[in-house]
Amino acid sequence: MTAARQTAHRAIAMRSITKRFPGVVALDGVSLEVRAGELHAICGENGAGKSTLMKILSGVYQPDAGALEIHGQPARFTGTRAAERAGVAIIHQELNLVEDLSVAANVFLGRERRTPLGLVDDRAMEVETSRLLQMLECRVAPRTRAGSLRVGDQQLVEIAKALSLDASILVMDEPTSALTEAESVRLERTIHRLRDRGTTILYISHKMDEVFRLADRITVLRDGRHVRTVDRAATTPQEITGWMVGREIACHAFHEPRPRGAKLLEIKALTLPWPEHPRGYRLADVSLDLHAGEIVGVAGLMGAGRTELLETIFGVSPPTWAGTIRLAGQPVRFIHPREACDAGIAMVTEDRKRLGLFPDLDVAGNVSLCSLREALQGGLLSRGREESLVAGPLRDTGVKTPGPHASIMGLSGGNQQKCIIGRWLLTQPRILLLDDPTRGIDVGAKAELYQLIDRLCRQGLGVLLTSSELPELLTLADRILVLAEGRLTAEFARAEATEHRILEAATGS
Ligand SMILES: Nc1ncnc2c1ncn2[C@@H]1O[C@H](COP(=O)(O)OP(=O)(O)OP(=O)(O)O)[C@@H](O)[C@H]1O
Ligand SMILES: [Mg+2]
Repeated sequence: MTAARQTAHRAIAMRSITKRFPGVVALDGVSLEVRAGELHAICGENGAGKSTLMKILSGVYQPDAGALEIHGQPARFTGTRAAERAGVAIIHQELNLVEDLSVAANVFLGRERRTPLGLVDDRAMEVETSRLLQMLECRVAPRTRAGSLRVGDQQLVEIAKALSLDASILVMDEPTSALTEAESVRLERTIHRLRDRGTTILYISHKMDEVFRLADRITVLRDGRHVRTVDRAATTPQEITGWMVGREIACHAFHEPRPRGAKLLEIKALTLPWPEHPRGYRLADVSLDLHAGEIVGVAGLMGAGRTELLETIFGVSPPTWAGTIRLAGQPVRFIHPREACDAGIAMVTEDRKRLGLFPDLDVAGNVSLCSLREALQGGLLSRGREESLVAGPLRDTGVKTPGPHASIMGLSGGNQQKCIIGRWLLTQPRILLLDDPTRGIDVGAKAELYQLIDRLCRQGLGVLLTSSELPELLTLADRILVLAEGRLTAEFARAEATEHRILEAATGS
């Protein structure tokens, strides 16, 4: 009786799960039990094995050894469909939407609703999709092409898809990494609703505040091993990070003033039209300066125009903008990122899957991509030169990889992001545009990256930084500009900036 009740109470049991990839033991005998209806957070450094464990739970990978039980029944999933039938759905860290299909078609991909005559019932799928999106407080129309959405909205569509499966177990792999704070709050409301319905949730996040707000219990993985599972109420963020990294992390703010150098970038009255939108513009009358040695933060909600601002400078947006952009005093109008690179600008984008990673190139190839001229020897790419070229950035950004020629797709999410930062540092830019650069990067690696950026600024780099995490802007930036609906609404010196004041300016309240 008691035994039966205990089993019923346990949604998931994973026993001694081992998973190897070429050159890596991703999971080494990991055991984990998850209670029905709890929110169980999984924490660990980049590459610790979090996503791999969740992919085994949801049928993406099969373990090399070990056993899995779902609701007391042994399970051996041959694929995600099998896991879905057992009530397990996953929202991946790297979004998986088919860009050319509509939002509704993505939600029902492979499970299309049919009319009694067997035709695809677009109408029914659109109605259902609208209902799900409404529950997520997302205003995207079901017929919108998925590829035209920004990452944040794509993530909500992935969540709608998981909801449509009516899963009893939902895995969320860094669901808020692409969301702004306001959207994360919206997602938290959804999570509470799911819990009220009894859904068991596994939740991966590098954001400790989030983990401590949401989790009932927390499991820490390190180097593919299970370190600890504890009640949230019985631990602290410091203790969790300690178990994650196995060492102290330096967490100092950068209040040592940086010398401000020459003006690198000057933007005057920048306006970017948006004809198909009632507002008419993505950016209106934006003016700002950036000096050598300076980090200027750009805050704002999603849709405020932060990414568009950086993309316009970098030559990604259509060159339909009005106003002036001056680089070291010279007016410029880039129509391709290559021109911006040649002029000494680099940009780390928010959406690494779509804009950043080249799956057919290995780790070294991805890092050296924009500095190839230096790796060429007599017109040929020398492996040795490429290796020595990328050694520095791989070390500086702390990429964890089996080697420079490992597959980029085999790296964990956070390590892929570090490769992209390394790629741009290698071009030795004068101006670095960082669009949410530490998305998905663990706390320890983040502190190291902040130090690296601070060091480069002391050598004369100028940085324009956006972040979905205000503490990041408050830690790094000398000044913080706030965008709301495409307009600058406030500017704060570091000393006067607070989360509260920034949010007020960002929401126009
Ligand atoms: N498909 C794959 N091929 C080769 N190696 C892989 C593959 N998937 C994962 N790995 C390796 O397994 C280890 C664990 O990766 P995993 O993605 O589970 O880490 P993670 O904890 O989710 O990290 P992050 O916080 O960066 O997302 C890493 O060393 C990674 O390089
Ligand atoms: Mg991961």
